[in-house]
Formats: sequence, structure tokens, C-alpha cells
Amino acid sequence: MNIASLKYKRIIITAGPTREAIDPVRFISNNSTGKMGYAIAEYLHSLGADVRVVSGPVNIKTTLAAKQITNVVTAEEMMEVTQYLATDADVIIFSAAVADYKCAVVANQKIKKQEGSLHISLIPNPDIAFELSKTKKPGQLFVGFALETENGLPNAISKMHRKKFDFVVLNIQDSKGSGFGFDTNRVKLIDNDLRITDCELKLKSLVAVDIVNHLIIKLQSSLPIAADKKSLSYA
Ligand code: CTP
Repeated sequence: MNIASLKYKRIIITAGPTREAIDPVRFISNNSTGKMGYAIAEYLHSLGADVRVVSGPVNIKTTLAAKQITNVVTAEEMMEVTQYLATDADVIIFSAAVADYKCAVVANQKIKKQEGSLHISLIPNPDIAFELSKTKKPGQLFVGFALETENGLPNAISKMHRKKFDFVVLNIQDSKGSGFGFDTNRVKLIDNDLRITDCELKLKSLVAVDIVNHLIIKLQSSLPIAADKKSLSYA
């Protein structure tokens, strides 16, 4: 494997959860810690890639420099920054667990307890990966994640096709150490030609190595053939 293919490559990584306000003191979010996305970003950085993280609210000690991270809170903010950075990106890795819905109306004062149930109306957030897929450039590589609790393979494959991922990391959430909240993860890497690589349960920092190695192979196979090699192949 030739890690030189990563040198100076601009790689954007969305990471962590997003948050949607309900009122000034409450929000909707999820259990994502951002560990997987940051582990990938740190490993890519150590190999010489030009890494930018678009991060939801996380509590992570990172070796990345502050200028490599843009902190956001909501899905809309994450989309705006990712779209801006995407213009000159070689690779975008969508590891964030984006809140799919936001409140139709955010109360401007704390909602007070009342008799009976409280109903909050939710409206869809933008799907960042899907929106960016509409302007995906030739040669750009997209890596997606799919967190599933059931029907993992068909769900992950349909997300990959819909959002033009070159490969998708199927993240299996179970109580045996895989998914949100654990330091370990068990994943399958699914290529857009439907080849599947099964990875065993391991530390997220080591899963990051598997994902980056897979990305390097993809980058090498997407490289245009150099002019001299082209003429050799005709000789
Ligand atoms: N994603 C995104 N923006 C969203 C939702 C998801 O960019 N609003 C990206 C995630 O970062 C991930 C992929 O899309 O790479 C799949 O996310 P996931 O939450 O597993 O799936 P959804 O498409 O949201 O579908 P569902 O929640 O129904 O499983």
C-alpha cells in the first residue's frame, strides 16, 4: 500500500452528533461521541493528509490543531461548513450522526411543565451527504457510515447508492461493544461494487486504520493513468 497517495490530499470529515434546540435549555441529539471520526482524522493527519474536521459537540482530547477543526452545533451549520469546504476536497468522510429532525418552532423561553402530554412538532433536517452528492465532482471520493440495529446490509447498500458513497462503513450497534458509546467497533466495509470486507471487533483507533487503508486502495485505483504509463500500455 502506498501512503504517498494521501500526501496533500484535502480530506473533510464530519464527526460527532448534531444538536437541535427545543428551548434555551433543552435539545434533541444522539449518543454519538465522535470518537470514530476523530480517530480517522488523526490517523489521516499522521499520514500527511490535509485534514479538516467539521465537528458537532464532542468531548474529545485530540492531537489535531484547532485550525483543523470547525465546531458546529446544528445540522444546518454542519451542512453550510461542509458545503463550503467541499469545493476543493479530494475526499469527504461522512461520519457524523446528524439529527434527522429539528423542532418546527424553537421556544424562546424555557417550556414550563404542564398537565398532560407535551407534543413537539419536528421537521426534517437536510441530509448533508445527499445534498453534497448532487454536486460530487469526478475524482472526488465519498465515504459514508450507516449505523444500523437491523437489516444492516440492505440499509447500508441503499444509503451508499442514494448518497453516491464510494464505500460505506456499516456500523453495527449492539450491546457487545460496538457502536455509539463504546471505545470499540465492529464494522463491515461495503464497496460500491458490493464487495464486502468484514472487520472484527477492535478499538476504534484500529478500525480507523482499516478504514483509511481501504480509502488508500480506493484512491490508488481512482488515480488517472500517467501519460507515460498510458503510452507504455499501447507499446
Ligand atoms: N448523513 C448526513 N446528513 C443527515 C443524515 C445522515 O450527512 N442528515 C450521513 C451520515 O453522516 C452517514 C450517512 O449519511 O454517513 C447515513 O447516516 P444514517 O444516520 O445511518 O442514515 P440516514 O440516512 O439518516 O437514515 P436512517 O436514520 O433512516 O437510518
